[in-house]
Amino acid sequence: MCGIFGSILKNGEAAPLIHAGLKRLEYRGYDSVGEATIHEGKLFLKKDAGKIDDVHAILNLDDIPGRLGIGHTRWATHGAPYKINAHPHTDCNEEIAVVHNGIIENYADLKLELENIGHIFKSKTDTEVIAHLVEEKLKEGFSLIDAVRETVNRLDGSYALAVISIKEPDKIVCARMESPLVVGITNNAIYCASDIPAFLPLTNKAVIIENGELVVLSDEGYEIRKLADWTVVPRQPEKIDWDPEMAEKQGYPHFMLKEIYEQPLTLRNTLRLQEQYLELMTEFLDRAGEVFLVAAGTSYHACLAASYMFSKLAFLATHPIISSEFVEQHGKSVNIDSTILFVSQSGETADTLSAVEHAHLRAATLLGLTNVIGSTLTRVSRVYVCQQSGPEIGVAATKTFTSQLSVLAQLALRLAKKRGKMSHVDIEVLESRLKQIPDVAETILATQSEKIKQLAKKYYERQCFFFLGRGISWATASEGRLKLMEIAYVPAIAFPAGESKHGPISLIESGFPVIFVCPKDDTHKTIMSNIMEMKARGASILVLCEEGDEEIKGLADDFIEIPKGVPEILSPILYVIPLQALAYYITLERGHDPDMPRNLAKSVTVK
Ligand code: AGP
Repeated sequence: MCGIFGSILKNGEAAPLIHAGLKRLEYRGYDSVGEATIHEGKLFLKKDAGKIDDVHAILNLDDIPGRLGIGHTRWATHGAPYKINAHPHTDCNEEIAVVHNGIIENYADLKLELENIGHIFKSKTDTEVIAHLVEEKLKEGFSLIDAVRETVNRLDGSYALAVISIKEPDKIVCARMESPLVVGITNNAIYCASDIPAFLPLTNKAVIIENGELVVLSDEGYEIRKLADWTVVPRQPEKIDWDPEMAEKQGYPHFMLKEIYEQPLTLRNTLRLQEQYLELMTEFLDRAGEVFLVAAGTSYHACLAASYMFSKLAFLATHPIISSEFVEQHGKSVNIDSTILFVSQSGETADTLSAVEHAHLRAATLLGLTNVIGSTLTRVSRVYVCQQSGPEIGVAATKTFTSQLSVLAQLALRLAKKRGKMSHVDIEVLESRLKQIPDVAETILATQSEKIKQLAKKYYERQCFFFLGRGISWATASEGRLKLMEIAYVPAIAFPAGESKHGPISLIESGFPVIFVCPKDDTHKTIMSNIMEMKARGASILVLCEEGDEEIKGLADDFIEIPKGVPEILSPILYVIPLQALAYYITLERGHDPDMPRNLAKSVTVK
C-alpha cells in the first residue's frame, strides 16, 4: 500500500503541492519517496529512500520546475526500500515516468519479454515494467492515452497508476484496478491521488475513479473511460465534507476500524504473493529436522493457529513458542537441524529479534514472515515472505493478523501438496475456499457489524470475560481475548475449552460472560458440552458459530453467525473479525481510544 499523487496547475509550480500531497498520504507508506515533473519538454526527477521529511531535507522536493508532475510515497512490496526501487520509475530514455500503488502479478514475465527486446531495467520492482511497456507502445506510434490503455490491458493484479511523458507534456494518464484512485478539482488545478486526504485542504470536489477505468487529466479537466469497451463515463465531482484527520481514516472514526474494514483488500493481497518466496520457504520447511514458530503477542497467536494447519494438512509437527520464552524453553536444544519461522508484522520486535540472534548463534535455519520489507527480520532471514498488508497504524493488530494466517495457511497447503498428504480434490477445494476468504470477510463485516455494536452495548460493563475454543479455535479465542484486554482494559482469559473443568470454571457465576468460538468442525460436539457446563453455572454465553447452526445457537444467550462452508483450517481468519470489532465497540462504550491504548506501542523494540 503506497500513496500516489499528481497535479496539473494552470499557474505555478507543481512540486510543492506534490510534496505536501505525499506528506498527507504518508500513513500509506513511508520507506521512500519521489517526484517527477515535466518542464520545457524535459523530465525532471527526484527520489530517494527514507521518510519524506528526511529526503526533503536533502533533496528539497519543492524545488523541481514544471506545472505538471506526479509523486509517490512507498510501502515496499517488490524490492527493498532502496533509492533504486523508489518511484517514479522511468523508461530506457527517461522520457516517461510512472508512479504505482498495487501489485503487478505477471511482472516477471513482462520484464523478461521486454529484456529480450533490449529494454534495460534499473530496479527490482514490479512497477518498472509499466514504464517500459508504455515506451514500447509510444515507439509503435500510439498516443500516450492509447499506450497506457494497451499497457494496463496486459497487467494482472492491482494498480492505481499515473503516467507522464515528455511526448505529451500537458497530460497525466491514470488507471485503476482495485487500488484506490480519486481526482480532485479546482478552478486552477486538477489532482489525482490514492486518497482524498492528499488534496482535501486544496479542494473538497472529488471524483472517485472506479475499477477498470482510465482517466486523463489536462488543463481542460478530466475524461474517464472504461478500459473494457473504451466508452466515456460521464461522472460529476462529489462534495467531500471531511476534516483532514477524518480523511486519513477514510471517514472511519479510528484507524483500527478502518483497518478492520480493509481486511477484504489485504486478504486479496496475500493471495498475490511472489510464488518463488513461498515455494522456497515451503522447501525449507519440508526438509527441516524440527520446526519452531516463534513470535510475540498477536503474531504468536498466528503461530499457534499455524501449528494446527501444518499438522493437519502436511503432517508436520511444529512448536509455537512465545519469543520471550524461546531461549529459556528451547535455547539448549536448538541446533543446525532446527528451522525457525519467526513471525512479526513490524519485523522489529525486540523479544523476537533476540530469539533470532540466539537461533543464529546455534546455526539454525532462520525464516521470516513480516509486513515490513527492509525491517531487521527481513535482513536476518534466510528466506522471508512479505505479507502485503500495508502500514497498520492502530496499535492493536487486526489486518496484519488475518494476513499472517492466510500466508501460513498457504504454506501449509503447499507443504501438504509437496508431501502428497492430501488428495488433489481436497487441495483444490481448500485452494478455492482460500480464494473466497476475502469475499466472506466482506459479507461478515456487512451483515454482522450492527449486531456486534448491540452486543458491545450489552456486555461492555462486564468486569471479566472468558474466551474459549477447541482445536484451532483456541488461537482465535486467544486473539479475541488479547484485543479486548489491550484496548478496552478489561481482564480476560482465554484457554482451550477442554481446560475449563480443570480450574477456570470456578470463576463462573451468574452473568459471567463466556465467548465461545465454535465453527462446524471436528470439535463441534465436544464444545457443546463445554457450553452446557458453563451455562449450568449461570454464565452468559455468546457464541460465534456457522450460519444456521441451530444446535449451538439454541444453547447461547447471544450469537454471531459466520457464512457456511468455512474450512476449519481457515476459520481463524474469519471468526476473529467479529472479535476484533467487538473489542473495538466495547472500547468505545467504555470511553477509551482504540488507536492509542495506554502503556502500549505499535512495535515493542525493548526486551
Ligand atoms: C497486538 O495487537 C499488539 N500490538 C502486540 O501484541 C503485537 O502483536 C506484538 O507486539 C508483536 O508485534 P510484531 O508482530 O510486530 O512482532
